[in-house]
Amino acid sequence: MRIDVVTIFPELIEVPLRTSIIGRAVEAGVVEFGIHDLRAHGLGRHRSVDDEPYGGGAGMVMRPEPLFAAIEPLREAGAHVVLLDPAGERLTDALARHLAGVAHLALVCGRYEGIDERVRTVVDREVSIGDYVLTGGELPALVLIDAVVRLVPGTISQASHEGDSFASGMLEYPQYTRPESFRGLGVPPVLLSGNHGEVDRWRRREALRRTRERRPDLLEGALDDADRALLATLDDD
Ligand code: ADE
Repeated sequence: MRIDVVTIFPELIEVPLRTSIIGRAVEAGVVEFGIHDLRAHGLGRHRSVDDEPYGGGAGMVMRPEPLFAAIEPLREAGAHVVLLDPAGERLTDALARHLAGVAHLALVCGRYEGIDERVRTVVDREVSIGDYVLTGGELPALVLIDAVVRLVPGTISQASHEGDSFASGMLEYPQYTRPESFRGLGVPPVLLSGNHGEVDRWRRREALRRTRERRPDLLEGALDDADRALLATLDDD
């Protein structure tokens, strides 16, 4: 997979992509990144990329020429172009899984108060990471990259993300590791029992409990008959 990023802050993007699991995926050749400094296409002596909004008002707007100049070669190379924008479609597990199947992504980071509307004509998709406004698209691009690259085969084991919250339509069950007792807090005995059938049942039941408590909206559609029976037993606790 190849992911290009267009930004006026390459330094904000570079370090996270060299770090941890994403950095390992790069070293393993699972994913290749290209970081493009939008200022290379900036206008005039100051390599300007923004200007005042027509019609007046606060803040600056990113001009179309530098963005078109950065985006067009990526489009011609076959990239699926994604603009990070608070007005975009919400990033979900399903969208991340879809994008993980795209061979070439180009992520365009907006900045300042906004981008010239005409830029939307050269992007394939607009994505928001949530209903809050950040100072630019760089952190959203990193969030999208992290969510997508971990799903690309070769980054982490398949088993590590099959049970993800949301992939299964449910939040994850509680996890414990050593020590068995910590500050008076124990570990549920079933997890120490060695009985895999019982462990699986307990985990499913606790995932159901947590999802019902915290995200009942996810439960619709995620339940089979066995789950409904397990849910009924929660009320006995
Ligand atoms: N740029 C600024 N805020 C954003 C958000 N929530 N999602 C995507 N891009 C953004």
